[in-house]
Amino acid sequence: MGKIINGRKVAKDVLNRVKEQTAFLKERGISPCLAVIIVGEDPASLVYVKNKQAACEKVGIISRRFSLPESTTEEELILLIKKLNADSSVHGILCQLPLPRHINEKSILRAIDEGKDVDGFSARIGFDRNDIAPCTPQGVIELLASENIDIKGKNCVVLGRSNIVGKPMALLLLLNDGTVTVCHSKTKNLIDITRRADILVVAIGKPRFITGDMVKNGVTVIDVGINRNADGSLCGDVDFDSVEPKAEYITKVPGGVGPMTIAMLMQNTIVAAMRSNAQN
Ligand code: GUN
Repeated sequence: MGKIINGRKVAKDVLNRVKEQTAFLKERGISPCLAVIIVGEDPASLVYVKNKQAACEKVGIISRRFSLPESTTEEELILLIKKLNADSSVHGILCQLPLPRHINEKSILRAIDEGKDVDGFSARIGFDRNDIAPCTPQGVIELLASENIDIKGKNCVVLGRSNIVGKPMALLLLLNDGTVTVCHSKTKNLIDITRRADILVVAIGKPRFITGDMVKNGVTVIDVGINRNADGSLCGDVDFDSVEPKAEYITKVPGGVGPMTIAMLMQNTIVAAMRSNAQN
């Protein structure tokens, strides 16, 4: 029987810590502030942004929302970002993705001041321990740490190579001295690789893709997937029922990685506020 790593509880602990740090900063005259930009009205993005602002409120971070119309040009968006970069009362800038097709995502993400990039998207290949890391992979590391799961020397297998999860996940595991293999849709003999994993992080967006026969006994499995079943309920990329009996530790969907993403965004915002204070 695998021990379930409870993302809701770990996220709550992180948020409590962030709340204390926010109060500490406020006592010293700094009011941590996150600027949240949303372009257009993508329904999922509206929900994400609402949840992010609700989390800010919970921990005492000021959130300033900039809702721009779908017709906003790349130049207009960059102008807003430049204004926010120059505004010392703003510590973090988040531009919700996806952006409308006529806007180049890379140009926008590059425009955000690295010190204010609380999504960690500007962290480039080779980023180091001091960089603000992307929220979801950082949340995975926090989940492993919550159970004192040592990464050092372990065979870590990451399924998925997205810019937001797979690639930064591999880097963070490497920074923690894991031996890392990244698998993707073109990987051959996948099962041979997943069966060697001590720590398996799955982020490929395929419902219940990883089954019990694909893992070894004693594996730690972190499921980053969020898929919707026909009945509207959520499921991950891991077939929990067949994998759980073989796992030492495992996360569930929902209630695993999901709650960690916003918690780490709050933490990143506080880190950005602390650093900007140290520089001034
Ligand atoms: N869209 C989906 N996930 C994310 C995220 O983590 N950050 C931003 N800015 N947009 C997203």
